[in-house]
Order: sequence, then C-alpha cells, then structure tokens
Amino acid sequence: MKKALFVVSIVLMLGMVLGACSQKSDVYTVGTDATFPPFEMMDDDKNLIGFDIELMEMIAEEAGIDIEFKNTSFDAMLAGMTTCQYDMAASAITITDERKETMAFSVPYINAGQAVVVAADSAITGVDDLVGKTIGGQLGTTGLMEAEAVVDATVKTYDSYELAFQDVANGQADAIIIDYPTALAYVALNEGKLKVVGEPFTDENYGIVICKSNTELQEKVNAALTTLIAEGKVAELEQKWLAGE
Ligand code: ARG
Repeated sequence: MKKALFVVSIVLMLGMVLGACSQKSDVYTVGTDATFPPFEMMDDDKNLIGFDIELMEMIAEEAGIDIEFKNTSFDAMLAGMTTCQYDMAASAITITDERKETMAFSVPYINAGQAVVVAADSAITGVDDLVGKTIGGQLGTTGLMEAEAVVDATVKTYDSYELAFQDVANGQADAIIIDYPTALAYVALNEGKLKVVGEPFTDENYGIVICKSNTELQEKVNAALTTLIAEGKVAELEQKWLAGE
C-alpha cells in the first residue's frame, strides 16, 4: 500500500516538473515598465493596462503565441534585453541605432517625440530655455539623453518618471524631458501643478524589442504587427488610448 502511494507521488511530481518545463518554453516573457501612461501602467487592482499591453496581446493572438508580462524598471528591462533575459519588451521603446546593436526591433508601430514638462507657474517656454537648468529624466531613456545634451544643465536621473514629476511639482527640479503622449498623461494626473511647454522636439518611432538571437520570433512579431497595422487595429488602439493628442 505504502509502496503504491510512493509510486503515485513520484509520478505526480514528475508530471509537475515536466509540466512546468514545457510551460516555460511555450510562454514568451515580455518585459515592461508599467509607469508610462498611456502605454503601460497599472489600474487600481494592479492589472497591467495600456496601449502597449493591448498591442502585445493582439500580436500574441495574431502570431499564435502565449505571452507573460514581467514588470520591471525601464533601465533593468533594456539591460535584460541585451542578454535575452526576456524574450521581448513592450514599453514605448524608441528604435535607435545604438539599441539595434544589442537588441532586435519590430517594425515601428507609433511615432512620438520628446517634450518638456515644467511646473504650472514656470517661466520656461520650451527646450531652448533649459540651458543651465536642473532637468529630470528616467534612467535609460531617450529623454534622459536629450537632457544630457542640454548645455550646462544639471541632470537628475530617476528609476521612474513618477518621482521626477513630483520633484518638478515641488520645485526640486526645473523641467522633465519625456515622450509627448506620456507628458500629457502625467500633466492630466497632476491637475493644475504641471504643464507641457513648446512642441515635441524629436522624432521617434516605437518598436517591440525582441531578443537579438531569436530571428524566428522577430519574424512572427513583424508578420503579426504588419497585419494589425494594415487592418487598422493599431489605429483603433491610438483612438482608444491617445484620443485627443
Ligand atoms: N521612448 C523612450 C525611450 O525609448 C522612453 C520609454 C520609456 N518607457 C517606459 N515604459 N518607461 O527611451
């Protein structure tokens, strides 16, 4: 009797181990930094929501793959992508030549540019007024690179843009450089405290990042994304998440 039980439990354990392994190889991990509305953020119940989250789910469905999001800081996520710690990343990631050296990108799915956010009562009217100022940006972002390019500026880096906006609202920093759609979202969240000044001053395309060695996955993502763009599904997402911008 005891022996039978032992055999049964061994079989069960083996089944669990095998199940876990096979599950792992079938589910692709997708890194994201869910502090970037309207592209990736959390709702009140801590569910991931946003443009990129829905886009990634549509891509997965179209490509016939399973995905699982891993929420982490932007900088850690990009570093992780250079070593294929995640299979993919969806996080409003600008396609740049430098990044292309260490990670693969999908075709572009949306266009954005960097903008300047200041306190509501600030005299700064745009990027040209930032010389010598204290400018905040999120670690690893193109916005931070733009801040570093400003003459005589003191650059403050943050793990997430949330803290950067608090600092600007409290007068601890003069300005933030951040993607325009997210600038508008944060200004809306901090009613009366912040404003966007000037026009977006860079031209950037977002892509899904794919582990560089996985060209097969890159092809699947590109085929799915190209179909979704052609069918107007990406335009629908823009309408839903970026309406009025
Ligand atoms: N587009 C910018 C970049 O690629 C900022 C992206 C930040 N995304 C985020 N989820 N925090 O550097």
